[in-house]
Amino acid sequence: MFSLFRHILLTSLVAAALTGTAQAQTAATEFKPQVGQAGKDVIWVPTPKSLVEKMLKMADVKPSDVLYDLGSGDGITVITAAKLYGLRATGIEYNPDMVELSKRNAQREGVADKTEFIRGDIFATDFSKATVVTMYLLPYLNLKLRPTLLNMKPGTRLVSHAFTMDDWAADQTDSTEGRTAYLWIVPAKVEGKWTLGNGSVEFKQKFQDIYGTYTSADGMTYRLTNTSLRGDQISFSAGTASYTGRVSGPVMQGTMRPRPDAQGTSWSASLVNVK
Ligand SMILES: C[S@@+](CC[C@H](N)C(=O)[O-])C[C@H]1O[C@@H](n2cnc3c(N)ncnc32)[C@H](O)[C@@H]1O
Repeated sequence: MFSLFRHILLTSLVAAALTGTAQAQTAATEFKPQVGQAGKDVIWVPTPKSLVEKMLKMADVKPSDVLYDLGSGDGITVITAAKLYGLRATGIEYNPDMVELSKRNAQREGVADKTEFIRGDIFATDFSKATVVTMYLLPYLNLKLRPTLLNMKPGTRLVSHAFTMDDWAADQTDSTEGRTAYLWIVPAKVEGKWTLGNGSVEFKQKFQDIYGTYTSADGMTYRLTNTSLRGDQISFSAGTASYTGRVSGPVMQGTMRPRPDAQGTSWSASLVNVK
């Protein structure tokens, strides 16, 4: 009896010692990120939580949004978005240790089921499902991503910590603790000639800035005024008439008022020469 008791005691002590050693080894080998550590195209520096929260507010995120953080580091943006707004969020990160760290952080914060971390290159990984894209990269990387970003669904919100998109002006800028964030809303593509009732409208476009002319059925031409394009929402005036509507590929439609005090009627326009 005594020897059995001694055996159990000894076995427990050995097991406890082994577990302790294993834990000590895990703690000793667990990856510890260093601010400034090298990354594929840019080093790791985390965005402060206060700015992450501001960026999410600027993007007006909703639980139905799908967020992608390009170069997700320790997962701070992805995890904060999932935690605060309950949305699905994905990080794309090249460094596999950072990916594993992000997964552990998401687990600890209780959002493992809402988040995903992909070990990959942001230039070779599909993020076209995103309705919100966040990034903290470098000016030339933003510029390299710009054609892809501009081809995303109109209305997709892009938020960048610190860096701009060259001559694509931001729709909104905000700062906290000396850090700045920029927001862009992907504009619909409207450049070209559209039939509008018996007349036509011709738009020129530079990102979200639009201008152009309206030509009536009897050949009168008006310069467009009060033009605005925010995602797929468009508005413009031609003479006394004002138009508001939504762009959906080669069609736009909405409400038109011939004069400011007149009743609104519906209008639609179709792109001519769709390729
Ligand atoms: C400045 S940190 C930003 C981290 C995080 N987005 C944040 O705001 O806290 C940039 C991150 O991008 C990663 N990175 C660099 N080049 C990359 C690439 N080509 N593809 C994916 N990740 C990349 C780095 O490893 C680093 O973690």
